[in-house]
Amino acid sequence: MIPWQLLDSAQVPGEDGELRLYQRRGEFSIRVGGSELMNSRVHGSEEAMAELACARIASFPCPRVLIGGLGMGYTLAAALHRLDAESRVMVAELVPEVVAWNRGPLAALAGHPLDDNRVTVREVDVAQILRAEHRAWDAILLDVDNGPRGMTRKGNNWLYTRTGLDAAFAALRPGGVFAVWSASPDPAFTQLLRKAGFEVDEERVRARGPRGGGTHTIWIARRTVPPHGALPGERCDD
Ligand SMILES: C[S@@+](CC[C@H](N)C(=O)[O-])C[C@H]1O[C@@H](n2cnc3c(N)ncnc32)[C@H](O)[C@@H]1O
Repeated sequence: MIPWQLLDSAQVPGEDGELRLYQRRGEFSIRVGGSELMNSRVHGSEEAMAELACARIASFPCPRVLIGGLGMGYTLAAALHRLDAESRVMVAELVPEVVAWNRGPLAALAGHPLDDNRVTVREVDVAQILRAEHRAWDAILLDVDNGPRGMTRKGNNWLYTRTGLDAAFAALRPGGVFAVWSASPDPAFTQLLRKAGFEVDEERVRARGPRGGGTHTIWIARRTVPPHGALPGERCDD
């Protein structure tokens, strides 16, 4: 059995918790407390979230996409693969060291997505962006936890409350999609998304993509277009 080697650790801002980055040959693991948050060998559902969300905005001109939680960069890389040259992707990552790891030992895992000139990174709580911005995004991809029950930090629970969902709804442009990753289904959360005004598809995806593995849940929630509303038009200059 090859032992894991601790490469680095990082305090989670505003919490007692710590993220730790481990390596075992070519495999990496990010852990919080005693639980694994992410493993570099299992990323099919993280990529599927980006594919499902970006497919729904494929006809939008100059799409703007917000990704909450960089992790190992797989969702970001899959979104970039799906989006055209005019798109812009912002990543909100709470833990600055995670960004540094993605520029260092993790960079090659997903093909150096932070080097793509469509990408900007903000080292902030994604909730800060959701609270501040209105009608700003065509897609918001949220993968900061194990699902609607916060894992990285207690402060994330707000994201899955009605107030948090209202903020996500308001931050989207009409027709935009809010995608949420979860390790398991959560019927109460599906209902809450509907109550917040979203049209909701609940997708089951495999943890290892075509190689199978466990089943994860992705909610794709669309901010409906008002009866006489148009989809967002010219905005390639922003
Ligand atoms: C499970 S990982 C994301 C995995 C990612 N989808 C991928 O493809 O590699 C969760 C990430 O979200 C970050 N995070 C946790 N809470 C956050 C928040 N409130 N705002 C922004 N990032 C957050 C963590 O530091 C971690 O990098």
